Amino acid sequence: MNALASTSHEAVATLGALIGVGLGPGDPELVTVKAARLIGAANVVAFFAKRGRASHARAIAAPYLAPGCEEIALLYPVTTEIPFDQPEYVSSLQRFYEDCVMRIRAVLEAGRDVTLLCEGDPLLYGSFMHMFARLDARFRVEICAGVSGMSGCFAAARQPMAWGDDILTVLPATLDEDRLASRLAETDAAVVMKLGGNFAKLRRAMTRAGVIDRAIYVERGAMPGEKIMRFADKRDDEAPYFSMALVPGRGRRP
Ligand SMILES: C[S@@+](CC[C@H](N)C(=O)[O-])C[C@H]1O[C@@H](n2cnc3c(N)ncnc32)[C@H](O)[C@@H]1O
Repeated sequence: MNALASTSHEAVATLGALIGVGLGPGDPELVTVKAARLIGAANVVAFFAKRGRASHARAIAAPYLAPGCEEIALLYPVTTEIPFDQPEYVSSLQRFYEDCVMRIRAVLEAGRDVTLLCEGDPLLYGSFMHMFARLDARFRVEICAGVSGMSGCFAAARQPMAWGDDILTVLPATLDEDRLASRLAETDAAVVMKLGGNFAKLRRAMTRAGVIDRAIYVERGAMPGEKIMRFADKRDDEAPYFSMALVPGRGRRP
C-alpha cells in the first residue's frame, strides 16, 4: 500500500471505504479512465451542491453512473451569502460538514463504499477534503486524482502558464485587496480562483500590481458556455462561480 494513501487506521474489513473521485473541469472527455471506472462500479455516490441548484459534479459524472445506484446529495446551506470570515458562516458550515459525515459514516458502517464525486481535483480547494479530514482516522479513504479546473482553463485559453523557473502562485480572490495586490506583484504567473463577488476588488488589485493588461478571464473553462477574454476587456464586475483569472508567466524561453 502507498504510505501516503491512508493513515494508521485499522480499517476493519467489514467497513466500507470512502472514495474521492476527481471529475476534471467539466468536459466529459477530461474525466480520467480511472474515474469513469470507479463511478461505473459505485453502488452509492455522494456529491455536494448548493441547495436549490443541480449538482455540477453529478452532471459531469452522469454518463458513467450505474443504473439504480444510490445517491446522497449533500446540499450546502450557504455558500457566498455570508462572508466566510463571519462566525455565523463558520458555525453553519461546521454543522453542515458534521451532518454530511454522519450520513456518509452510516453507509460506511453498513459495510458499503461511498464514492464522493469531486469537481476538478479532490485535493485542490475541494469539499471532499472536509470529509477526508473527518473520516480518514477510522475508514479506508481512496483518492482518484482529477484534472484540475485550472489545467482545463490553461488549455481552453491556450495560455502557456509557467516557463523555466517562473513562480506560479495560486490565489483565492477572497483575500483582501492588499494581499492580492502584493502577491500578484511579486509572482511571475498567477491563477486566481473564487472570483464570484470579488471581481471588482480583483480588478483593483491587478491594476495596482501592474498585471491587468496581460491577465485573462476564463468563465466556465472546458465546459458548455465557456467564455474567454482579456481581463481588461471585461466591462462588468459580475463573475459566476466557475470563473478564474490567469496571469501567464513570461519566463526563460531558450
Ligand atoms: C472550490 S474551488 C474547487 C476547485 C476544484 N477542486 C479544482 O480542482 O479545480 C472552485 C473554484 O475553482 C475554479 N474553477 C474550477 N473549475 C473551473 C472551470 N472549469 N472554469 C473556471 N473556473 C473553475 C473557480 O474559480 C471556482 O470558484
